[in-house]
Amino acid sequence: MTSAPKKLYIKTYGCQMNVYDSERMAEALGAEGYVPTDRAEDADMVLLNTCHIREKASEKLYSDLGRLRAIKTDNPDLKIGVAGCVAQAEGEEILRRMPLVDLVVGPQSYHRLPAMAKAAAEGKKTVDTDFPPEDKFDHLPERPATGRPTAFLTVQEGCDKFCAFCVVPYTRGSEVSRPATRILDEARKLVDRGVREITLLGQNVNGYHGAGPDGDWGLGRLVRELARIEGLARIRYTTSHPNDMTDDLIAAHAEEPKLMPYLHLPVQSGSDRILKAMNRRHTADAYLRLIERIRAARPDMMMSGDFIVGFPGETDADFRATMDLIATVNYGMAYSFKYSARPGTPAADRSPVDPGLADARLQELQALITRQQQAAQEGMVGREVSVLFEKPGRLPGQMGGKSDYLHAVHVEAPDARPGQIARVRITSAASNSLAGTLLD
Ligand code: SAH
Ligand code: SF4
Ligand code: F3S
Repeated sequence: MTSAPKKLYIKTYGCQMNVYDSERMAEALGAEGYVPTDRAEDADMVLLNTCHIREKASEKLYSDLGRLRAIKTDNPDLKIGVAGCVAQAEGEEILRRMPLVDLVVGPQSYHRLPAMAKAAAEGKKTVDTDFPPEDKFDHLPERPATGRPTAFLTVQEGCDKFCAFCVVPYTRGSEVSRPATRILDEARKLVDRGVREITLLGQNVNGYHGAGPDGDWGLGRLVRELARIEGLARIRYTTSHPNDMTDDLIAAHAEEPKLMPYLHLPVQSGSDRILKAMNRRHTADAYLRLIERIRAARPDMMMSGDFIVGFPGETDADFRATMDLIATVNYGMAYSFKYSARPGTPAADRSPVDPGLADARLQELQALITRQQQAAQEGMVGREVSVLFEKPGRLPGQMGGKSDYLHAVHVEAPDARPGQIARVRITSAASNSLAGTLLD
């Protein structure tokens, strides 16, 4: 008789890289006999994969851990692990404050998780927030088939930009690119397992500069080589920094049909004074000229961005400049945040903008972005797009998927399967999705 498999529950916060990391951690523990569960109450191990980007991230972790205490009281054998960017930032402190935690593992040490889980089973607590010399990707198991037609693939990690507000350079470490040959291998295997769309991930993904067989490759070259993989239909990448947008990558958008016309290119502010205070190292005008070049290469490019309002020192005039920039770019999608001080970052010591004022600005900015998003959605009505089907929709006979422009689309397609790509005419726009009919 074999014992029942151990059950693993993972809760993921933060960015897409954390989503990718959670999958890789599940695979690493899968090789040790853990199977996933979606109920913490049934789990033998709970992993919280944390994000440190916003204020109260650590408080949120401690309150989540507080809730797990009841479950651990019922099941004293339950092991609890903390991973991700709060794990990296707080390290040992987590064990000190929360003795119910068994292991703390930072983003560069995930390949050591199976050994840490074994130690936990023997009652030993471990903390690993090293930036180890070995490459975790060499020590993680191969990725199994998931049945999903889309996948993330990390190509670059860390950041050397040190924007004055941001914790990422501290939690993810300095910029490292994976070798291009490894990425191509991983991509081919994903495609063999049914993946049709790959999103390349990196904190500064367009700064990618990994070793290829004939010297260093930039992201443009990597995209062109990935595009040669038969069966791979779509390539995306996120997140990019304006200063790393090379001519070659822009040209790839004009020349490579597999490279999708959606670009997330955060600018944070439209005021040169604030951009300088943020250490962004570019002006608003340079960003606008860059977008002109991108749209010259790919006129239908759907632009997306991130904005911070209420950065220390932001005046009304600075905020107006941000609103003007948004009006000029006309985003298809954008994320906006109220500035929150992150301990240890340069901006944390500067005097904050009045919180009420920051709230009012955020509301005004979000209203403009919502109008632009709605206009972009409505502008799709009547147009022909391609849709990669991902899963059955809510109604019988319906399939749901994403357009080239990353809009969610529902289509009446009773005979379609996930993984198929269909030509679709968009017939209507709702607030968060589009509806369409099959063309062929
Ligand atoms: N590497 C990416 C992602 C950074 S984090 C990039 O450069 O865009 C994602 C977004 O969170 C940032 O673009 C920024 O808009 C927001 N953000 C980061 N730190 C923040 C802070 N301290 N306060 C408010 N928003 C923040
Ligand atoms: Fe953070 Fe700036 Fe690096 Fe993006 S580019 S991860 S905002 S420091
Ligand atoms: Fe958050 Fe770390 Fe990603 S701080 S946004 S999980 S890189």
